[in-house]
Amino acid sequence: MNLKEGIAERRSIRGYLDTPVSKELLKEVITLASRAVSAVNAQPWKFHIVTGEPLAAIRKENLNCIEQGCPEEFEDAAVDGIYKTRRIEIAKQLYGAMEIAREDKERRTWWNNRGVNFFDAPAGIIITRDKILGMSYNFDVGCVAQNLCLAAMAHGLGTCVAYQPLTYLHVLREVLGISEDEEFVCGVAIGYPDPAFAANHVRSNRESVDKTACWYGFED
Ligand SMILES: Cc1cc2nc3c(=O)[nH]c(=O)nc-3n(C[C@H](O)[C@H](O)[C@H](O)COP(=O)(O)O)c2cc1C
Repeated sequence: MNLKEGIAERRSIRGYLDTPVSKELLKEVITLASRAVSAVNAQPWKFHIVTGEPLAAIRKENLNCIEQGCPEEFEDAAVDGIYKTRRIEIAKQLYGAMEIAREDKERRTWWNNRGVNFFDAPAGIIITRDKILGMSYNFDVGCVAQNLCLAAMAHGLGTCVAYQPLTYLHVLREVLGISEDEEFVCGVAIGYPDPAFAANHVRSNRESVDKTACWYGFED
């Protein structure tokens, strides 16, 4: 797969095989991803990679929190207008693929809980940045996250960048010992994609460049 194909074909993977992913492979993926751009080469990212027992402990605690109705701790920006429309559109695509009906509360809860728990992937990566750096450094971390998705793909792995695994930050801090000096940026589920998982075949839409690009000084 070349670079162009990788970029064009990348998609969020929300269903994984149980096959474990080795530390060696994950290290290779993260090393490649770390070639990302960053302001003043600050490289403000930190990766917390989790599998096995600690991941099981996070999942158990997250489910406890859900059951007890604990308040969510990560603020996902509320969206309106065109952004709300796009959010509904991708949700419809995913629920449609998974045959989850609007009124099917049980399956909706199942779907949400999977998201919180890294989509049942064999490994999860929590990306943080040093709190001392301002929000503008989230951009750099975004770049490394996209690189991570592409580098993973080059090794046959799938990923889903997600906020859902950040729902209960105290669980991640407690189980992994993440210090208060670190700000959470995103979670990334990682593993070998399950080809039989319908949502993995969803192709999300993109706005036409005619609507997103403004051109200056060109002939036509
Ligand atoms: C910062 C960020 C947070 C996201 N959070 C979630 C999430 O919590 N749950 C989820 O299912 N997908 C999440 N996604 C994945 C997006 O829904 C997905 O990238 C978008 O719909 C485009 O689809 P694609 O990645 O398949 O191209 C997130 C993506 C980003 C960049």
